[in-house]
Amino acid sequence: MQNTGAATVKIVSIVGARPQFIKAAPVSRALRRHCREILVHTGQHYDINMSEIFFSELNIPRPDYSLEVGSGTHGQQTGLMLIKAEEVMLKEKPDVVLVYGDTNSTLAGSLAASKLHIPVAHVEAGLRSFNMKMPEEQNRIVTDHLSTLLFCPTDTAVRNLKNEGCTKRVFNTGDVMYDAILYNMRQIEKTHTMQACLGKLRLIDGFPEKAAPLTAIQANAYYLATIHRAENTDSDERLQAILRSLGELRLPVILPLHPRTKKNISKSPDIIPKNICFVEPIGYQEMLYLTKNAKVIITDSGGLQKEAYFLNVPCVTVRDETEWLETLEGRWNVLSSPDAIAAHVERTDMVRNTPKSMFGDGAAAEKIAVIISENIEIGV
Ligand code: UD1
Repeated sequence: MQNTGAATVKIVSIVGARPQFIKAAPVSRALRRHCREILVHTGQHYDINMSEIFFSELNIPRPDYSLEVGSGTHGQQTGLMLIKAEEVMLKEKPDVVLVYGDTNSTLAGSLAASKLHIPVAHVEAGLRSFNMKMPEEQNRIVTDHLSTLLFCPTDTAVRNLKNEGCTKRVFNTGDVMYDAILYNMRQIEKTHTMQACLGKLRLIDGFPEKAAPLTAIQANAYYLATIHRAENTDSDERLQAILRSLGELRLPVILPLHPRTKKNISKSPDIIPKNICFVEPIGYQEMLYLTKNAKVIITDSGGLQKEAYFLNVPCVTVRDETEWLETLEGRWNVLSSPDAIAAHVERTDMVRNTPKSMFGDGAAAEKIAVIISENIEIGV
């Protein structure tokens, strides 16, 4: 390994899905201080409110390449991304390919690069749910084992890699999502209000009318929920159990609806409880504001579990396991079956006083950029 001059490092970064845009915002900012970045958007998420809104709101540079892959089966989507990402890499000949997280875009990017013997840098390396049925678990394990630089958000992630024999060029940088939160909250606290955030929410057309208007909702008197994982949305029985349990809650539930969930709920809109306000997906800053002011978060998203934790809001996670074990300490976060959501939500008024320094110091992106720029001749 040699430091041969930061300015010459050329990186192709691959993003494609909503959580990757959030992670790319601080990382791109830092990378561009040290290296030359070419940004590739696979097009896995393509709706304006799943993609474009994040680029404009978070000041992410325009992608240099848009692969426009869109939806499909896992094989179709990943295969098409692999073909198109390889074309970009052959043309650009980067020193490093950077991938984020655990989506099909991550897998396609890391596979295309490693077949071309281009070193892969993985942001959010080492996370494990130990549930191999999850596409995310398959994607992250393969990506970690193909990667040359492994950027872990926590000590748990470092340990997981060690248990799989990955110990070289593993760095605990802290979590780039923590960087993103600190950066954005400074602004949000000055500019956002409850009324303005509620005013921006758009109820989903064609769903039953709500008991009360959205704008009547008060801070700390609502729950914020998101449900999008295949294991929760693809079984009608499980999805209906989740909705039933949310319907038992006494306060309104604001639920920004992911397209996959919308498709599956649309099949039986008559089962939707009156206290759930289904709204179109919302931008990052409004989501942070609504998270900070919610009484409890109910989710199956990895990102939102952490955002709740960083913002000191209790969270009920509708999954059998979580990759973010740190959030369970002090019961900031609890795992729940669909039927037990309401019971857990009621039980969340307990003392939580665990120290919270397990996700770094808010400078993860800068550390990642420096490590990459100092490791130009890493080989694979
Ligand atoms: C993907 C990631 C998941 C991540 C999530 C964040 C994989 C395997 N999963 O899941 O890890 O937590 O993103 O949201 O990569 N759709 C639209 N408009 C869009 C995007 C998707 O209508 O802009 C529809 C698709 O047609 C498809 C469904 O939503 O029917 C799912 O999209 P897909 O990208 O396959 O996976 P996600 O569930 O979003």
